[in-house]
Amino acid sequence: MPKIRVGLVGVGNCACALVQGVEYYKNIRSEEECVGLRHLYVGKYHPSDIEFVCAFDVTAGKVGKDLSEAIFERPNNTLRFAEVPKLDVEVLRGPLLDGMSKYAGEVAEVDDSPEVDVAQSLKESGAEVVVNLLPSGASEASLRYAEESLKAGCAFINATPNLIASESSWAERYAEAGLPIVGDDLTDQVGATFLHKVLLETLNRRGVKVSRTYQLDVGGGTESADTLSRAWEVKRRIKTKSVMSVLPYEAEVVAGSTDFVEFLKNSRDSYFRLEGLYFGGVPFSMDIKLQTVDAPNAGSVLLDVIRGVKIALERGDAGHVLPISAYAFKHPAKILPLLEADELFEKYITEA
Ligand SMILES: NC(=O)c1ccc[n+]([C@@H]2O[C@H](COP(=O)([O-])OP(=O)(O)OC[C@H]3O[C@@H](n4cnc5c(N)ncnc54)[C@H](O)[C@@H]3O)[C@@H](O)[C@H]2O)c1
Repeated sequence: MPKIRVGLVGVGNCACALVQGVEYYKNIRSEEECVGLRHLYVGKYHPSDIEFVCAFDVTAGKVGKDLSEAIFERPNNTLRFAEVPKLDVEVLRGPLLDGMSKYAGEVAEVDDSPEVDVAQSLKESGAEVVVNLLPSGASEASLRYAEESLKAGCAFINATPNLIASESSWAERYAEAGLPIVGDDLTDQVGATFLHKVLLETLNRRGVKVSRTYQLDVGGGTESADTLSRAWEVKRRIKTKSVMSVLPYEAEVVAGSTDFVEFLKNSRDSYFRLEGLYFGGVPFSMDIKLQTVDAPNAGSVLLDVIRGVKIALERGDAGHVLPISAYAFKHPAKILPLLEADELFEKYITEA
C-alpha cells in the first residue's frame, strides 16, 4: 500500500490532534472497534497509511524538535489522548510573515533560526499533500505556503478560514499544475456550524419557520484569541453564509465567534438560540449549549480529507475538488445541501 506523504504547516493544537489521531487509530481494523471515525477506510486507505514527512512552524520550542514532541509544546494546550512515538521529522523554521498575532506573541516567542526554503524542503521530504493549519488571521503566510506547495508539486488542503481554495484564481493555478486543492475552513465533526445547519434543515423539513437564530462560541486556545483579534469578521461571514444556505427563506441569522476565556484552554462552549413559529403560528424558542474540545473535533474530518485528496491525486483530478470541499469545509467554491454533499463524497471515494 503506498503511503500518503503529508507536510504540515503549523504545529498547533489541530496538528497535535491529527498526529495523535493517526497513532490512536493505526491498529484498529474493524468498524465495531472504531469509535470517532466516520470512515475507517477511505477508498483503500486506512489512517495508518498517513505518514507525516515534513512540518513547519515558527515558535521557539517547537522548531528543531521532533514532530512527536513539538505537538505537545506550549502554547499548545489540547487533550493528550494517544502516545506518539518518535517520528524522525524535525519541525522546520518556516517564513513568519503575519503568522503571529499579538496574543500569540505574548504567550510564545518566535524562533530565531533562519527560515528554510519551504518548496525545497517539501520536495526533499517527498511530501505530496500539504495541510495548512496556520492561525485564522495569518492570511499572508497562508498564501505564501499555498504558493510554495504549488512550486513543490503538492496538493493543498486549506483548513483555515483564509480564503484560498474557494478562490477561482488559485483553483485555476492548481488545475494548470495538475494538482488538487480543497478548502476553505474545515467543518468540525461535532461542530457548531454543522449542528446549527442540521437543526435548521430538520425544523424546516417539519414545517417549522425559524425567524431568528444565533450561534456564538467562547473558547480559550490560541486559535480563539487569534480569531477574535484578527479574523472575527471573516469567520462570522463564513459561518453565517454556511448556516443560511440551508434555509429556503429569509431569516435573521448570526453565527460566529464571540469571545476568548483563557481558562477554557482548548475547550469551546457553543451557544445556540432559535426562535420561530410552528402549527397555528404558535411561537417557540430553544437554547442549547454544546461543549467540545476544539482540536480533536477537526481530526476525523481531516483524516477523511487527506485520504480523499490522495485519491484525487491518483485519479489526476486537479483544481478545486468539489466532492471533498463541499463535504468537509464551511466555505467550498459552492455550498451544497448537507445530505447532497455527504452523498457526493461517498460516491467520489467509492468510484472505481
Ligand atoms: N476544530 C478546529 O480546531 C478547527 C476547525 C476548523 C478550522 N480550524 C483552523 O485550523 C487552523 C489551526 O488551528 P489550531 O487550533 O491548530 O491553531 P493554533 O494557533 O493552535 O496553531 C497554529 C500554529 O501555526 C504556527 N504558525 C504561526 N505562523 C506560522 C508561520 N508563518 N509558519 C509556520 N507556522 C506558523 C503557530 O506557531 C502554531 O503552532 C486555524 O486556522 C483554524 O481556524 C480549526
